[in-house]
Amino acid sequence: MRVLFTGGSGKAGKWAIRHLMDQGHHVVNVDQTPSDLDCSELLIDLCDAGQVIGAMSQFVEFGELDAGTGVPTYDAVVHFAAIPRVMIGTDGECFRQNTLTTYNVIEAATKLGIPKVIFASSETTYAICFADGDLKPDFVPIDETHPTVPHDSYAMSKVCNEVTARSFQVRTGADIYGLRINNVI
Ligand SMILES: NC(=O)c1ccc[n+]([C@@H]2O[C@H](COP(=O)([O-])OP(=O)(O)OC[C@H]3O[C@@H](n4cnc5c(N)ncnc54)[C@H](O)[C@@H]3O)[C@@H](O)[C@H]2O)c1
Repeated sequence: MRVLFTGGSGKAGKWAIRHLMDQGHHVVNVDQTPSDLDCSELLIDLCDAGQVIGAMSQFVEFGELDAGTGVPTYDAVVHFAAIPRVMIGTDGECFRQNTLTTYNVIEAATKLGIPKVIFASSETTYAICFADGDLKPDFVPIDETHPTVPHDSYAMSKVCNEVTARSFQVRTGADIYGLRINNVI
């Protein structure tokens, strides 16, 4: 598959890209910082909708020009780029960037007819990580039926992203998956 991967220069993304490449997939990393990965890379700001749709619909390698068969399409988009927690910048900026980048990525992918989108959500949607004080879950083991009641702007952004994804899925029929990822060490 030809996969556009956002946030591949980060902690989790670089391992996910290596795994996808080991499985024989063709991956393009889209990030605002360069990586040391052996794949094509576009450096853009995913908060800019124009850059996002451009990145998904343009040539990325000289070999593609040589083929003379037009811009290749993507089979899937994996969206990992984000501000990965609170207390890096301000709470509001974390919420703004995470919701805007995810809206831009899913909107562009569905408008371009890319059939599959996978995005990184978070265990923090259950309010258990960045809350003020020692919150207990309603029940354990926590599963997807547990309420998502975030107390912090990072988790709020991830819950919003899940709603955004569900709305695009209903409206367009695209195949969209959100992963409530645990702590990446
Ligand atoms: N690290 C964890 O423990 C953890 C746990 C649960 C979920 N997640 C989620 O998994 C994903 C990956 O997390 P990570 O720890 O690898 O994060 P990271 O900060 O290491 O990597 C994120 C990448 O996104 C890029 N990025 C951020 N904003 C961007 C923008 N506007 N435009 C272009 N690129 C941008 C950064 O340059 C960076 O390379 C994130 O969505 C995060 O919220 C992480």
